[in-house]
Amino acid sequence: MRRLFHAPRILQKQAAGAATPRWQMNGFNRTPGATARPMTVRNLMGEIDGTNNPKPTDKDFNAKIFVPDKNGPQAWMNGGSYAVVRRIRMLLDPWDDLTTTEQEQVIGRRKSNGSPLSAPASTGTETTPVDLEKFTPDGSLAIPADAHIRVAAAQSNAGATILRRTFSYHDGYLPDGSPDAGLLFVCWRADPTTGFIQIQLKLDGSDHLTRFIRHESSAIFAVPGGAQPGEYVGQRLLEA
Ligand code: HEM
Repeated sequence: MRRLFHAPRILQKQAAGAATPRWQMNGFNRTPGATARPMTVRNLMGEIDGTNNPKPTDKDFNAKIFVPDKNGPQAWMNGGSYAVVRRIRMLLDPWDDLTTTEQEQVIGRRKSNGSPLSAPASTGTETTPVDLEKFTPDGSLAIPADAHIRVAAAQSNAGATILRRTFSYHDGYLPDGSPDAGLLFVCWRADPTTGFIQIQLKLDGSDHLTRFIRHESSAIFAVPGGAQPGEYVGQRLLEA
């Protein structure tokens, strides 16, 4: 964390006179090592958040997340990625008014351990694969049609996946007394049109969770690939 703080500070000092920061958002996450074993974090709604993310060991991970090498004017993005950053406020008062069972129906996973509702409560774990085809004995979908994990799933979005790396924020209270708190949502993808944009368009129309959140600001960043030996980050763009 300290190094992350230090890097933009040094950039800011060196760019003084030529560039100034226009805005900054502060988020937080659990410190690695704070739990006895590595555990997925919980967001401010109390949900385990970050389970179903592409993994670096997946065979198509690099192709999905990093921009492939090209020649020509866009070559400066080779090996880079696009980051979508959104400040999403949580409507925590109405959320807290739901029962745990209702909250689980909104997300599609159990609050206690993050297991998908398609798995039995007694044996399901956070890593039990999600079964979107599963029905309950009374004939309803185990994971409801408007549950967040169904609507956001790759199967519902022509295979679109994103690498989510989110932070929580809490910036005090709004004039009506409700918490000004939520998720600094950050996701990465080689091509945002086949990642975030595709998924968000679907969520907009049919995700139950949208009743409990407000997207307040949004930005997209082109992040160039790492520097080659002797180069600095972004050199191919800045000196083209
Ligand atoms: C405050 C806003 C949000 C909250 C509280 C939230 C919460 C969650 C939770 C609890 C899960 C289940 C655990 C997991 O797999 O990580 C999940 C999954 C997911 N979310 Fe969100 N999310 C939010 C916004 C978004 C947005 C804006 C997107 C994309 C546009 C998104 C995309 C996904 C995806 C792709 C999954 C995995 C679905 C799967 O199982 O395949 N989420 N989210």
